[in-house]
Amino acid sequence: MAASKLISNNVNIFDLDTPALVVDLDIMDANLQRMADYCDEHKLALRPHTKTHKSPVLARKQMELGAMGLTVAKPGEAEVMLQASPQEMLVAFPTIGPAKMARLKEVARRTSLTVALDSLEATEALSAAQVPAKIFVEMDTGLHRVGVKPDELAPLIAAIKKLPHVRYDGISFYPGHIKHIGEEGMGEMTKLNVMLNQTLEALDKAGHTPNVVSGGSTPTMYQSHMIFGMTEMRPGTYIFNDRNTIHGGACLLEDCAATVIATVVSTSVPGQVIIDGGSKTFSSDRLLNDPGVTFGKVLNAEGAVFHKMNEEHGFIDVTQCERKFHVGDKLQILMNHVCVVMNLHEQVHGHRKGEVETTWPVAGRGKLT
Ligand SMILES: Cc1ncc(COP(=O)(O)O)c(C=O)c1O
Repeated sequence: MAASKLISNNVNIFDLDTPALVVDLDIMDANLQRMADYCDEHKLALRPHTKTHKSPVLARKQMELGAMGLTVAKPGEAEVMLQASPQEMLVAFPTIGPAKMARLKEVARRTSLTVALDSLEATEALSAAQVPAKIFVEMDTGLHRVGVKPDELAPLIAAIKKLPHVRYDGISFYPGHIKHIGEEGMGEMTKLNVMLNQTLEALDKAGHTPNVVSGGSTPTMYQSHMIFGMTEMRPGTYIFNDRNTIHGGACLLEDCAATVIATVVSTSVPGQVIIDGGSKTFSSDRLLNDPGVTFGKVLNAEGAVFHKMNEEHGFIDVTQCERKFHVGDKLQILMNHVCVVMNLHEQVHGHRKGEVETTWPVAGRGKLT
């Protein structure tokens, strides 16, 4: 699918109306290729989570590079991602309620649908609504968010196997508690492997050998081949990376593709500049595991600290900067958490070396249901 061209070529990112979300296409392409090569090398299936880019245009690109399907959280995101014509679609967030069943049934008419869930109630609802879905039973591997305990898997799978219309296909987990690949993170990986080893053995013995073991995250992306028994990975953030990804040791600054261009709108308070983007532009997400309060890294003003936000105002402390600032100056800011920033913007400008090449709508933003 061609990206829609909303503006002409030869516009520099610093000449865009602001705040503007921009993506360096060379970096994004390299991130996509690196992941495709990694999955090829380690014979891991790739089912990227589209929560990061929320764009069927980019989902298409991921599949052209070998992704076997897509992952989404909500039915509304699944509906948008159908535009990319995926052969496989995984809805990874528990789907509850009759309105959503009807929507999933329609999604399942148009692609091969898998739903990850952790309760018999959720599976019974799918079955009763005659949604022809494959089922991944979600296991809690340490995040303590959703997922059953390892010893609860076999009885749940046995009950699911008795239901019509749905079909048990595997297990899933999200190792979101591993945020950093340092000594502590690797210790967590060892615990995860022990848990997976025991669980898969128990499932084999009970006659519930999973077809698919689905896991993976961006912080652990290049350690995925070391995760015991995992057959597919679902990273999302890797396409752009962000400040949290750098902080977690999974990428370098030069691997971060997405930034926000903002304009200095006031210098009236000495030692401070105000930019035209606050929490409506950057979200309020802080840097993970960081005691300081910063909402992004200002890339083109050494020493500037983005420390406070109102909805529309970003407060930047420039007391440690050598350069002078003027109303109208443009700042380029790397966000802490790119997925939530993407959700706040209507469009993204793709550029190479600063020259805007294409602009695409964030078609999957705001899909809460
Ligand atoms: C269930 C699930 N799978 C995959 C992902 C992708 O994770 P990441 O952005 O770390 O790659 C997420 C992210 O929140 C998730 O919730």
